[in-house]
Amino acid sequence: MIVAKNIVKSFGDLQVLKGIDLKIEEGEIVCIIGESGAGKTTFLQILGTLDRPDSGEILFNNVNAMNLKEKQLSKFRNQNIGFVFQFHHLLPEFTALENVCIPGFIANRSKSVTEKKAKDILHFFKLDDRLDHKPSELSGGEQQRVAVARALINQPKLILADEPSGNLDSRNKKELHQLLLRTRNEFNQTIVIVTHDRLVEKISDRILTMKDGIILH
Ligand SMILES: Nc1ncnc2c1ncn2[C@@H]1O[C@H](COP(=O)(O)OP(=O)(O)OP(=O)(O)O)[C@@H](O)[C@H]1O
Ligand SMILES: [Mg+2]
Repeated sequence: MIVAKNIVKSFGDLQVLKGIDLKIEEGEIVCIIGESGAGKTTFLQILGTLDRPDSGEILFNNVNAMNLKEKQLSKFRNQNIGFVFQFHHLLPEFTALENVCIPGFIANRSKSVTEKKAKDILHFFKLDDRLDHKPSELSGGEQQRVAVARALINQPKLILADEPSGNLDSRNKKELHQLLLRTRNEFNQTIVIVTHDRLVEKISDRILTMKDGIILH
């Protein structure tokens, strides 16, 4: 489903990615681990087409994402990729419910359908009583669950998660992992998770280690 070919990326003189080759099958859960600064977030951003590599290619079902124009690319991302960021990036002036709905509205889905779906997902995360809270009125773990709900709303084929369980206690961590596993089993989504959390390895089909800008195979 996704093929990364010889991805190279530098920031100034600092070469962060040194030629990454990776193939990910549809429906696979892949976990990427590695030391802080190894280039995991940088690679995930490139995989999600949020950033461009200096050289190399990203192919989604044989389509080269780099050839899409900016507008097509945004549409492609909105419909195909769900992001859970290392820092959750919720919009502070919107409520939990609104934050989850936004990708649905961008995809032109109706308000009622999108809100119903958002409420279902937020219910699953036990946030029924927090729909009207703004991010600053939520705990760290609640904010992270809202961010995961937002990534799931459009049922993307690919979910990219950067430390999704970073702010969660162990019970919520386990539940989040089970939820990811369940969505994959139900919708055959492909999931790439960057994490320091060894528990994620339990739900992963494959564990990759990044070190100094390369993936150790
Ligand atoms: N925009 C940028 N400009 C300059 N250097 C950057 C930039 N983004 C990242 N870096 C550097 O690139 C390296 C890789 O960063 P990256 O965020 O990919 O690491 P990481 O593996 O995700 O680490 P962590 O586990 O701490 O999140 C780091 O040394 C970082 O300082
Ligand atoms: Mg990171």
